[in-house]
Amino acid sequence: MRTIVVDPRHPDPEVLRPAAETVLAGGLVAFPTETVYGLGARAFDPVAAGRIFEAKGRPADDPLIVHVRPHWDLSRVFAKVTPAMERLIADHWPGPLTIVAEKHPDIPDVVTAGRDTVAVRAPSHPVAAMLLDLVGEPVAAPSANRFSYVSPTDAAHVATDLGAVIDVLVDGGPTPVGIESTIVAVEGDTLVLLRPGSIDLPEVETGEDAPASAAPGRLTVHYSPRTPTRALSAGGRLTDPGPGTLIAYRDTVAPPDDWNVVVLGSRDDLDSVARRLYAVLRAVDETGTSEIVVELTGVPGLGAAIDDRIVRAAGGRVV
Ligand code: TXA
Ligand code: MG
Repeated sequence: MRTIVVDPRHPDPEVLRPAAETVLAGGLVAFPTETVYGLGARAFDPVAAGRIFEAKGRPADDPLIVHVRPHWDLSRVFAKVTPAMERLIADHWPGPLTIVAEKHPDIPDVVTAGRDTVAVRAPSHPVAAMLLDLVGEPVAAPSANRFSYVSPTDAAHVATDLGAVIDVLVDGGPTPVGIESTIVAVEGDTLVLLRPGSIDLPEVETGEDAPASAAPGRLTVHYSPRTPTRALSAGGRLTDPGPGTLIAYRDTVAPPDDWNVVVLGSRDDLDSVARRLYAVLRAVDETGTSEIVVELTGVPGLGAAIDDRIVRAAGGRVV
């Protein structure tokens, strides 16, 4: 693996160019987006996109997100761009919103796991945007972690998980948002939320009633540490004997004396909580603690997206 270090705000195109050339040659390149690091390959090359599944250990039935620039001809990826899609794009791209809609026939089946819909987003991170400009065509990229492990928010996380199996790691430092994009499916005039994220769409129906297969990534066990993990209701008290590690907030009530306590941040600053969540989960996982308990924020909006990730990390176990 070759590591290319770039300035996250003002990347130099000449420094990034070898990463783009690797993508165009069919290789695997991990790169920062505003949410988490992505593991990218040419979306229109089924062999290259297939290597992503192998590298991650990802099941072939879990489709990838295709990354584009907002001004590209989107009729190359979607079967059609409807007014509802145009509104979402105008309001939220570039940014952490993924749109699922009917796919263009040229999108390989391996990318969509055989579905007739495709997930597409235009990242706002300057490094991701410049890499796409240099590649000049859509890049398929899931989060750059081993399947079902915690998503990577720093280059070191990617190197630990996938260093042995990728060609290039573009190191642009920690990612600013820290949790994965909001995913919305456009079904006619109806928007269905498939995954909550930092973009809160009030006009959207929640996907709770959607069949579980609608968003395969919504498997209950996902984003999980190796250490047994539970979620604690917001404001709840942990009465179990320690020592394990409680990940909590500045205003957490009476953390038990015999537990290690790691403060994630303040519920008044959820941006910072989202940014730190995965790095803290990974760091605590590596301490060898016997058990992890993560308190939920109990706050709507971004808090609900954070809580979604915490419940998944806990495999659905909430105390
Ligand atoms: O922020 C993000 O979205 C990051 C960065 C790298 O862009 N990517 C990301 O990808 O989180 P991944 O693969 O870890 O999660 C993508 C989710 C998966 O849960 C997948 O099942 C869902 O998107 N997805 C992809 N295509 C879909 C489709 N056609 N219909 C429903 N869900 C889809
Ligand atoms: Mg993922």
